[in-house]
Amino acid sequence: MPLQQVAPVLSNIQIAEGIFLLTLESKEIAQLARPGQFVNIRSTDGSLPFLRRPFSISHVHEDSIDLMFNIVGQGTRMMASRRVGDTLDVLGPLGKPFGYEAHFETAILVGGGLGVAPFPLLTRYLKKHSKKITTFLGARTSRHIVSTNLENIQIATDDGSSGFHGTVVSSLESYWGSHALPGPKIFGCGPTPMLRALSETAQKLHIACELSLEGDMACGVGLCQGCPVETTKGERKYALVCIEGPTFNCNDIILR
Ligand SMILES: Cc1cc2nc3c(=O)[nH]c(=O)nc-3n(C[C@H](O)[C@H](O)[C@H](O)COP(=O)(O)OP(=O)(O)OC[C@H]3O[C@@H](n4cnc5c(N)ncnc54)[C@H](O)[C@@H]3O)c2cc1C
Ligand code: FES
Repeated sequence: MPLQQVAPVLSNIQIAEGIFLLTLESKEIAQLARPGQFVNIRSTDGSLPFLRRPFSISHVHEDSIDLMFNIVGQGTRMMASRRVGDTLDVLGPLGKPFGYEAHFETAILVGGGLGVAPFPLLTRYLKKHSKKITTFLGARTSRHIVSTNLENIQIATDDGSSGFHGTVVSSLESYWGSHALPGPKIFGCGPTPMLRALSETAQKLHIACELSLEGDMACGVGLCQGCPVETTKGERKYALVCIEGPTFNCNDIILR
């Protein structure tokens, strides 16, 4: 069962261009959270924005959780203005975790932009389960890269200011051609066009692949039907991202 808590802000700092790391005190959510799960946050004490906003649980500490976010609109602007000692109403942990325990040898983490957010906690669990890890990060420029608490990092930037010049999916394809990654499984997170490209690459290279979706969401708990994703499973045309995801086997969904 998810918890609803009024969580004090322990810190809220800018860690890269336009990217914030928000640490909230919540021993209970920290203990329950698994990689790939998210929290749904009320970004205001007033009435607007009315809907909560979903954020991946990026990392956990004994008494607190880390969230990574950039400013998109009203909700995230309000979150960026929160100071130490302020509080935020948090619902979580929500959603289905990544399959980090499954039968594979090398985890290939592929994050586009803020898609890196769930990877620090995922990396901790993969290491606990003795998996090898290679991490591919894509960002607009070197100033937009966040790489703390990750392993074996390959960087790609759109402007070529750091690492591979091009998309993170092209960087994975180029690396794959010249390196051995035994018993691989891809874990992807990022914007939909990137996930669509990653899914096509995974299918082409015959690599198992799990994706974490970041589309629109409202209630976060399966009540409003506001987060459908099309499925490939004939009997049910749609799945709800908030309770059946946000992590899905790439073969089970159709990304439009
Ligand atoms: C599972 C999941 C995990 C995510 N993890 C992260 C993360 O770790 N870091 C990160 O930066 N981002 C993450 N996101 C994306 C993040 O939730 C959005 O960037 C955030 O909601 C933006 O909120 P905003 O108010 O700033 O932007 P807005 O664009 O104002 O609002 C964002 C969304 O709120 C809804 N909304 C806003 N206004 C209305 C309205 N009037 N009526 C109906 N709906 C409305 C819409 O769904 C809209 O797309 C995640 C998303 C999902 C689904
Ligand atoms: S967000 Fe309401 S059902 Fe998924």
